[in-house]
Amino acid sequence: AEAETLSAHRSDPDAEPTTPRVATLGFVPTMGALHDGHATLIERAREQNDVVAVSIFVNPLQFGPGEDYDKYPRQPDEDLALLREYGVDIVFIPELEVMYPGGEPLVRVSSGRLGTMFEGAARPGHFDGVLTVVNKLFNVVVAAAGPHRGRAYFGQKDAQQVALVQRMVADFAIPLVVCPVAIVRDDDGLAMSSRNSYLDPEERKAALVLSRTLALLREEGLSRGYAGIDVDAARERISDRDGVDLEYLEIVDPKTFEAPVENSERATALAAIRVGGTRLIDNMDVI
Ligand code: PAJ
Repeated sequence: AEAETLSAHRSDPDAEPTTPRVATLGFVPTMGALHDGHATLIERAREQNDVVAVSIFVNPLQFGPGEDYDKYPRQPDEDLALLREYGVDIVFIPELEVMYPGGEPLVRVSSGRLGTMFEGAARPGHFDGVLTVVNKLFNVVVAAAGPHRGRAYFGQKDAQQVALVQRMVADFAIPLVVCPVAIVRDDDGLAMSSRNSYLDPEERKAALVLSRTLALLREEGLSRGYAGIDVDAARERISDRDGVDLEYLEIVDPKTFEAPVENSERATALAAIRVGGTRLIDNMDVI
């Protein structure tokens, strides 16, 4: 198409010069164990770009000691079959030694204050690890696609992750665009996650209290406004569920993760629970 545009100019000397349309690359970073949440990100990337690339890398830097790095689900054959089905053009599945030759990197991205709140408080160092690997992946994407030709897709499921990646792109002037994608849920409302595979049927049922309580907060917010939201009652509702421990439930401005202020565009209810040995997070806009 580019060549056609250029030759059209040549044959018509009076034609307005037009910028030739350049190809764009849609990039979806993942840790594999792919589900419909990932598929939705890939679909969006397909719709908006000429070429789609997906990475699968279980990044040890973002797991704390005692977390599930070793048992994190790894299913490369199933994942590859799915990616083929989704029509993904480029798949990047680096070995540990390719991403981190010579062991863990010396220089890392620091996620600052936002990286110490909520998920960062529960998982110290997690977001530094996320940003360090995402920064490296973004460098590969920009090198391959050229500046301002890449779009990277991230799920709102990990609201704090999206916010931090957007801040990193702005703070480091990384020449690509971050595109947030809404949370994908199972029919019963549970937000899809690779970690849902850890839940037994009883635990899975118990876990539903999370999305149901967030949905109640959303109803309260939409019908009565921010002041009409009873966060304490919601916390109790979750804590009262057998087999579920509440880690946090807060309403925040999803840009700053501080309490919403007068001119906040949105307010988001943000929560983490433990069900058995499994940690689950979810969030919903309430305003
Ligand atoms: P992973 O947990 O595999 O998630 C990859 C992407 O899929 C993330 O952007 C995540 O927010 C999105 N995602 C997961 N479940 C989703 C759901 N139910 N609805 C919408 N999007 C969903 O997040 C990571 O991997 C890693 O931290 C990574 C960014 C790859 C860096 O290592």
